[in-house]
Amino acid sequence: MDLSTGYMGLALRNPLVASPSPLSHTLDGIRRLADGGVGAIVMFSLFEEQLRERAERTYRLVDEPAESFPEALGYFPSVAGEDVGPGGYLDLLERAVSAVGIPVIASLNGVTPESWTGYARAMQDAGAAAIELNIYYFPADPEISGPDVEQRHVEVFQRVKAAVTVPVAVKLKPYFSSPGAIALRLDEAGADGLVLFNRFLYPDIDLDRLAVRPMVDLSSPADARLPRTWIALLRGKVRASLAATTGVEVPADLVSYLLAGADVVMTTSALLRHGPQYATELLDGLSSWMRHKGFQTVDELRGKLSAPDITDRAAYERAGYVTAMRAANAGGYAPW
Ligand SMILES: Cc1cc2nc3c(=O)[nH]c(=O)nc-3n(C[C@H](O)[C@H](O)[C@H](O)COP(=O)(O)O)c2cc1C
Repeated sequence: MDLSTGYMGLALRNPLVASPSPLSHTLDGIRRLADGGVGAIVMFSLFEEQLRERAERTYRLVDEPAESFPEALGYFPSVAGEDVGPGGYLDLLERAVSAVGIPVIASLNGVTPESWTGYARAMQDAGAAAIELNIYYFPADPEISGPDVEQRHVEVFQRVKAAVTVPVAVKLKPYFSSPGAIALRLDEAGADGLVLFNRFLYPDIDLDRLAVRPMVDLSSPADARLPRTWIALLRGKVRASLAATTGVEVPADLVSYLLAGADVVMTTSALLRHGPQYATELLDGLSSWMRHKGFQTVDELRGKLSAPDITDRAAYERAGYVTAMRAANAGGYAPW
């Protein structure tokens, strides 16, 4: 069975990629991810806040454990924790690159366009095979318009792209009025990869303490439907590689993303739940499904159910919604 594949011009032994998580906070964790069998690793993000914090020592996004899941603390590594500032990050990246025989992609999470380029270049110099831009931009100010938000994404991408020679991917959130339009804009601007979609973290309310509580929770397979739909719609419409992120729990989720048209499929929650070695199980499941269905290579099955290739493209769009609602009503599922 040939699982080898390409992502942004990088040769990967298989299409399963470890997406950013606390599992890549240490060299041991990175080695365990590689030993688990993934085709590439995207390291956790270097956060602009941490870069600023070096100077200010004031910024703290997570000030106490997120009770839902202890590993969740790692999303925004505590400033008092290990050295995940630029020096520590670049050092870990360099050691990771020489320790594992698979591509290591660095992830950068900035806010302002100015802050991105220097670190992107330093990541490239440290051996990153590519750079993923985690544009975790939440326009909390209602005065910020949709076009402004889009423009920021494009500007950040363009600045970084101009500063490095390695491939650059953009990890997008789903909250655009037209996610397809921003994907096309970034593609036209030269994005090498589009990662669909980032999961935003919304705080919970702590009723005992009457306080707002930061939360990071893990995904479930149902969360995969939104990114999968957009991957299916964008397949064949963009030159950029498409990476799926969110909701891969069992091999069927990995297969479904590939059928929708993903070049690679990323996973974090499943590896946090079951450990880095769980990648082997996901890949074994992919291989046995391919064997069962008579596929020899990943290329043969990729995009088989993407929107442009199937006759019923409308099933992905409005008609699909209406049909689903009719079926739900007919089955007595919905009370309306
Ligand atoms: C504990 C935790 C830490 C994460 N850290 C990062 C990060 O540093 N950078 C990033 O781009 N995404 C981060 N993510 C998001 C994941 O990379 C991934 O995109 C998201 O969890 C959806 O994939 P999943 O359903 O497989 O978990 C984190 C997610 C979790 C749960």
